[in-house]
Amino acid sequence: MRILGIETSCDETGIAIFDDEKGILAHRLYSQIAVHADYGGVVPELASRDHVRKTIPLITEALNEANLTPADLDGVAYTAGPGLVGALLVGCSIGRSLAYGWGIPAVPVHHMEGHLLAPMLEDDVPEFPFVALLVSGGHTMLVEVDGIGKYQLLGESVDDAAGEAFDKTAKLLGLDYPGGPVLAKMAEAGTPGRFKFPRPMTNRPGLDFSFSGLKTFAANTVRDQDDSAQTKADIAYAFQEAVIDTLAIKCKRALEQTKLNRLVIAGGVSANTALREKLAQLTTKLKGKVYYPRPEFCTDNGAMIAFAGMQRLKSGVSADLTFKATPRWPLDTLPPV
Ligand code: KG4
Ligand code: ZN
Repeated sequence: MRILGIETSCDETGIAIFDDEKGILAHRLYSQIAVHADYGGVVPELASRDHVRKTIPLITEALNEANLTPADLDGVAYTAGPGLVGALLVGCSIGRSLAYGWGIPAVPVHHMEGHLLAPMLEDDVPEFPFVALLVSGGHTMLVEVDGIGKYQLLGESVDDAAGEAFDKTAKLLGLDYPGGPVLAKMAEAGTPGRFKFPRPMTNRPGLDFSFSGLKTFAANTVRDQDDSAQTKADIAYAFQEAVIDTLAIKCKRALEQTKLNRLVIAGGVSANTALREKLAQLTTKLKGKVYYPRPEFCTDNGAMIAFAGMQRLKSGVSADLTFKATPRWPLDTLPPV
């Protein structure tokens, strides 16, 4: 079976074709970063309009790359939520219209389920059950995963998401949106120990996160220091170390609580090399392992939507013509497959 995947929940248009025997046959990604750069963040209306321009041409390109016609497809998966409502509506409308025209099922996909299952696109597939740390620009969640659609929320951020904290601190350091990956690069030249940032909410029980205080701490540090490249790198280092330590402390707690030793990390921040190394050390100590997608499938992409859609399509899920874009959609309300 083959499925087309469409991702338009935020500022990336991602298209992919997935075959349940051969894997990914084609994938295309268009990033809107340049469109939003001048504004320091995503402008929802500009995002929607750019998805309108890019989605169909990218679908045509993906079909050509895979040497397929629509008649070779068995379904169309699209991100139905969570995300920006206007951006979601573009993928929903195009996905459903194409499926209707082609006479095949349309499959609504939960964006965070897409991220969560993305490591399964790699050769070394994690077995269920496992703990998943989802760290993106909009979400920070720890989830116990007992199977596809069997998700128990263990903890989440009570304020900023991890990626959001990276982006806001990057902005304080004078970096363009989204500054997360650039801040991570800067941190490589940082001096360990020069600054010490707090590890929020780690000295009390529980698996929730809070990152907004780190941003304030960063703002105060930036204000009180010189603005040399070395000082900026040292601040980037201390900030990143604090986020990673905090995530690792909570992951350890979640693994102990669930008595599991397999950890999946996904979402944009899972591309962070220092985070991967830290969690590899942690899981090795627990005689387990950490799993993550290749870097291009950590951030938003169509492949993860095609893959998650395929799992749902095989279980018989499809949308009727009234299915709506769902900007807010708790992950643990999904039905099991
Ligand atoms: O999953 P994603 O592409 O979009 C959402 O669903 O939000 O995640 C984007 C986020 C941004 O905040 C970006 O700065 C962050 O992931 N990010 C990183 C890295 N690469 C992307 N943060 C830290 N280190 C990285 N290497
Ligand atoms: Zn995402």
